Amino acid sequence: MSTTQTGRDRTNHTRLLAWIDEMVALCKPENVHWCDGSQEEYDKLCQELVDAGTYTRLNEAKRPNSFLARSDPSDVARVEERTFICSENEEDAGPTNNWQDPASMKDELRGKFDGCMRGRTMYVIPFSMGPLGSHIAHLGVQVTDSAYVVTNQRIMTRMGQGALDVLGDDGTFIPCVHSVGAPLEPGQQDVPWPCEPDIGKKYIAHFPETREIWSYGSGYGGNALLGKKCLALRIASVLARDEGWLAEHMLILGVESPTGEKTYVSAAFPSACGKTNFAMLIPPTEGFEGWKVTTIGDDIAWIKPAEDGKFYAINPEAGYFGVAPGTSTDSNPNAMMTMTENSIFTNVALTDDGDVWWEGLDGDPPAHAIDWKSKDWTPDSETPAAHPNARFTAPASQCPSIDPAWEDPKGVPISAMVFGGRVSHNFPLVFQAYSWEHGVYLAATMGSEATAAAIGQAGMRRDPMAMLPFCGYNMGDYWMHWLKIGRQHVATPPRIFRVNWFRKDDNGKFIWPGFGENMRALKWIVDRCHGRSAGIESPLGWVPGHEEINWDGLEAFSSEQFYEIMDVDRERARTEASEQEELFTRFGNRLPREMELQRELLLARLYHSPEVWKLNRVIRADT
Ligand code: OXD
Ligand code: MN
Repeated sequence: MSTTQTGRDRTNHTRLLAWIDEMVALCKPENVHWCDGSQEEYDKLCQELVDAGTYTRLNEAKRPNSFLARSDPSDVARVEERTFICSENEEDAGPTNNWQDPASMKDELRGKFDGCMRGRTMYVIPFSMGPLGSHIAHLGVQVTDSAYVVTNQRIMTRMGQGALDVLGDDGTFIPCVHSVGAPLEPGQQDVPWPCEPDIGKKYIAHFPETREIWSYGSGYGGNALLGKKCLALRIASVLARDEGWLAEHMLILGVESPTGEKTYVSAAFPSACGKTNFAMLIPPTEGFEGWKVTTIGDDIAWIKPAEDGKFYAINPEAGYFGVAPGTSTDSNPNAMMTMTENSIFTNVALTDDGDVWWEGLDGDPPAHAIDWKSKDWTPDSETPAAHPNARFTAPASQCPSIDPAWEDPKGVPISAMVFGGRVSHNFPLVFQAYSWEHGVYLAATMGSEATAAAIGQAGMRRDPMAMLPFCGYNMGDYWMHWLKIGRQHVATPPRIFRVNWFRKDDNGKFIWPGFGENMRALKWIVDRCHGRSAGIESPLGWVPGHEEINWDGLEAFSSEQFYEIMDVDRERARTEASEQEELFTRFGNRLPREMELQRELLLARLYHSPEVWKLNRVIRADT
């Protein structure tokens, strides 16, 4: 099949056609297939994957049009140690990224990609991150030798002819090159999950100046679905810096009050802190009659300042690639309903009746299942049935809580930005930054405990803005960009909040019930945005008094417990703030002055107003 000819039927984009020719010459595939994104194409590829042993078709009655894939055990997660930012200057990648010189990395990759698709089909996937034609959206074209990737991309992005049409004859696109790195010799039998099993030979390489992505050796998740972490975060963060917007690791949700008031909130949490659950939250039935939370996105937000002085956000993705274990009708009923059909499951267990199962799913474990490594599994088995990073890929349009405006090309106006880590001690349930600059500082210093160690014992893994593995340039410059953007284009930037659902009591038990009850903190956030709550000044920021939270239906949670979860031990807080110096000094002269000033202000508040916190607590609790 002649590429240029097939391509020419589909597009007149000269640069795109030339680039595909170049990729074909390099990768030497047996066939080239330009994806049109149609249902027929999807069905055909899924059937081919079933025939190849990659997909198992699930029970049509229980899980219509859905499939299970099992990856190679060496290929189960993102590979951060093999993720590279290849900027011309090492300093532009910054101390938190793996840097490689772009010219030598390109040489190395060309060697790897030479002939890497022998015996395989090269799929050309034109895709849009964001609603087709939205001024906030961006286009990419991924070449890949994995049909698993094509079928997942069809759920996760707007993929196919529609994207090609928006691209037109001369539009801009991000080239994304992907190979599983397993060429087939003539006559060689393929395996269900081809990949390069040696981690040291995988590459997830980003070229921020030339805006390219090259990924080699892995077929899994963010390593292979290049629109997601690689384009929508690492490369997009660079575009956002240059063009004056924000590409963030954030969910977007809407809060609708009984009077129909709509408030949109974006929120950043480190990986595995329940972002999908928060994005699809169902408010408690008691006390929140008439309140509704709607979902725009669960992982990534692209946010652009508009002329009306507000920040507008879109979800660049069209589906959810969520972690399956722990997802249940208890923890996230909306997610469960989203994946009832037309979904792909990766590395979960297969039940005897042809459905899926994972640890944490409702009900009793099945008496027998086939685990993610294709082995028999029973509840007595010593290993989990599903891999802890097993995933579901499901269309966002199937989510019962999907917001009516989720595909609005102009995005939704963001009133608040929430940042949350996972901290078991000394970190309040919710508080608000005093200003945009203070908020940027709070977001930059967020983190999760690496171990159960208390704060003050070097237990924090800092994850600024939850972007540590996803920022495509120097994190110090990124903070500067944040500081600037809040003031440059808009009169009133979104309010910034910190939350922490994970505080534990002296017995190591979570104090806060979490899930739907998080609505109580969310409502306070919304109230603050609309000037309905006075708040209390504390050394950390504005905090709610007990009476500012709606406790209807959760009366069992006492005011004593509330103050326990809000309380801050000054000594520990000072130690925490002092430890932030270690993070800041890594950035040398790229550290914005505001960061250090905010840290000093916090220390000053912690030193000079020793009784304010307790005083407020007593006054407010008594009234
Ligand atoms: C993800 C992550 O997969 O953040 O979304 O790691
Ligand atoms: Mn994520």
